[in-house]
Amino acid sequence: MYEIDSDNNINNEKTLRTFKELLLSTQDDEDFETTSSVEQEAVEESCLQLYKVAEDPKLLRGRHLSWLKKSLNKLSEGYECLDCSRPWLCYWSLHALNLLGEQLHEEDNKKVINFLSKCQDPLGGFGGGPSQFPHLASTYAAVCALCTITSEEAYDAIDRKGLVHFFRTLKFADGSFSMHRDGELDIRGVYCAIAVAKLTNVYTEELFKGTDDWISRCQTWEGGFGGCPGMEAHGGYTYCGLASLVLMGKVDKCDLSSLLRWLVNKQMKLEGGFQGRTNKLVDGCYSFWQGASFPLISAILSKEKKYFNSNDYWLFDQKALQEYILVCCQNPYGGFLDKPKKNRDIYHTCYVLSGLSIAQNSPTPTILGQRYINLVESTHPLYNLVSPCVTKAINYFDKLPIPD
Ligand code: FPP
Ligand code: ZN
Repeated sequence: MYEIDSDNNINNEKTLRTFKELLLSTQDDEDFETTSSVEQEAVEESCLQLYKVAEDPKLLRGRHLSWLKKSLNKLSEGYECLDCSRPWLCYWSLHALNLLGEQLHEEDNKKVINFLSKCQDPLGGFGGGPSQFPHLASTYAAVCALCTITSEEAYDAIDRKGLVHFFRTLKFADGSFSMHRDGELDIRGVYCAIAVAKLTNVYTEELFKGTDDWISRCQTWEGGFGGCPGMEAHGGYTYCGLASLVLMGKVDKCDLSSLLRWLVNKQMKLEGGFQGRTNKLVDGCYSFWQGASFPLISAILSKEKKYFNSNDYWLFDQKALQEYILVCCQNPYGGFLDKPKKNRDIYHTCYVLSGLSIAQNSPTPTILGQRYINLVESTHPLYNLVSPCVTKAINYFDKLPIPD
């Protein structure tokens, strides 16, 4: 793939890495084999096999669209364990379709609105299914799914007063939030509450008093954020921490240089994708969880005028990530996966496509392969909704008064 000449495609950008370079990027276990080093070697080998034969990586848009649309009506038994995450299934599918430039027909949108309304608790917040307890993660997923629909009917399905009540019942004095009544407490809860509050215009300083300091305590010695103070730094939690601080306008509560140092070291040398934490394996979903922190950091740095990004690129290897996504994470029959030899699933399809969107849509777009085949819509790095969905939701809700 690395020598391919595509002069006939003016938008085709060749990959930067040669096969020889890839071979030089294999891990060095310093002659000390461990379970992790053996697993790492196996993943590198599977990626190398794919890179060796790949030519002009292409996004299989049609296959992904048909698989996603089919999944909306019927899921395999494997999804049974997600019975308490059904709003997530709506969001992952709808957002993935949006990234590929598609929307549902009106009657399907109505079915989604109707279903999500049944998941809404009479006292506020959304549960993982009809009549389930409300949960911050399903609330974020349901609100995002409704925002992908962009109709007044979808927006009006959200009980905004109920949201404020729900958030208040979950907040602790130190600024943190538990995920649900008597539930676990971690930084996902903070992000889900802040993102929903900002999108739907129910955010007040009083509601999130102390939350910035609590988030700050989650940043670890490595530079990334853990799930709560004292936990290991991880890409998923890091995204939640940084996006929350940006949404609150409190980026001064983050040690940016140690965060950036940690983040850039999470991109894998050979695979090109990201790992979620130190000494772990690459996984396609971190293309978004780690990747989305880069546009946030660029925005912070350019605002602070500490960094002049003359070429307007993100501070990671955008083409290497696209290689990983297009060559190693696509199921030939549609859908995306974590890594080679894994099964496709809707979660990875959503977050791999979201990561592809981040990798392509830097201020100067950077598209591996043929633009008209591979380019996906631009996702908003703070909410992970395609940008017009964010603008429309904010315009709609900002006209409504903030409930007390
Ligand atoms: C480790 O899984 C995963 C975690 C510790 C949490 C991941 C958190 C997110 C993805 C963020 C969720 C965000 C929202 C908005 C709900 P693992 O041990 O299976 O994977 P690893 O080996 O890659 O670390
Ligand atoms: Zn994953």
